[in-house]
Amino acid sequence: MKITVVGAGAVGATCADNIARKELAEELVLLDIKEGVAEGKALDITQTCSLLGFDTRVVGVTNDYSKTADSDVVVITSGIPRKPGMTREELIGTNARIVESVCKNLLQYSPNAIIVVISNPMDTMTYLALKSTGLPKNRIIGMGGILDSARFKCYLQKELNCSQNDLHATVIGGHGDTTMIPLTRLATLNSTPVSNLIAADKLKQVAADTMVGGATLTKLLGTSAWYAPGAAGAALVESIVRNERKVFPCCVFLEGEYGQNDICLGVPVVIGKHGWENIIDYKLNEEEKAAFNKSADAVRNMNQVLDTLVASA
Ligand code: 2OP
Repeated sequence: MKITVVGAGAVGATCADNIARKELAEELVLLDIKEGVAEGKALDITQTCSLLGFDTRVVGVTNDYSKTADSDVVVITSGIPRKPGMTREELIGTNARIVESVCKNLLQYSPNAIIVVISNPMDTMTYLALKSTGLPKNRIIGMGGILDSARFKCYLQKELNCSQNDLHATVIGGHGDTTMIPLTRLATLNSTPVSNLIAADKLKQVAADTMVGGATLTKLLGTSAWYAPGAAGAALVESIVRNERKVFPCCVFLEGEYGQNDICLGVPVVIGKHGWENIIDYKLNEEEKAAFNKSADAVRNMNQVLDTLVASA
């Protein structure tokens, strides 16, 4: 098994660190455009092998895609992160060009790879990766919903004083401050609906905090977060390479599912060795369906910006 992570910034390096520790690949390549950065971070991770007890071979390269050849899974984190006050959507112009050229370079050497997209605005970058590569839809997976669901569990835990690991809680829709949908009705703690355990106004606040979870961190850190995004990317890769068939909310191409077409959006999917394998129908109620359609409209508007960029390129 060979895995490549493109972008050795905070998210890419943290994702690579988690992948290395979990020993998901014999070889892990970290690639960055900035001279020496990927090499340095790969060496730093490698120097934790004997301390942490893993043996993954981690290789850092500066923009040399030949070293990524025959990767089974690639994770794209390239692009600029957001600064405080910025939305993920404001990154589109810069990141679209980067993501498109990264996909092209990767596929030249790894035509069979499954692609995980983390770059923002993630829903649109996933759609761009799909359209620009023409790969089968199951091999393009956007990572947003897993991260947002982890944040949802974190805020639920604060109310419930429970283990986050006893919670089932899912965020679907777009990976944007106003487009994500924490499914409070379906969230459970050990099979008990959390709505039986948390007052309605508090649960509403949990959902609101989840939606701005990334922005809260950007404000605190001065740039976007990396520990949870990196860990979420690695969890997704783990389910692929170990064929775990875990159900994660991921951004995938919809063809009628959840009432949407020609869009990549977050829905619960089974993740296994072929990428995303099937979409689970959570049977949304009318209110949730309306929120999902609204989220799709916003993401579709963002996707249309891609046409302008292509036209102006
Ligand atoms: C976040 O929400 C990186 O989009 C990512 O933190």
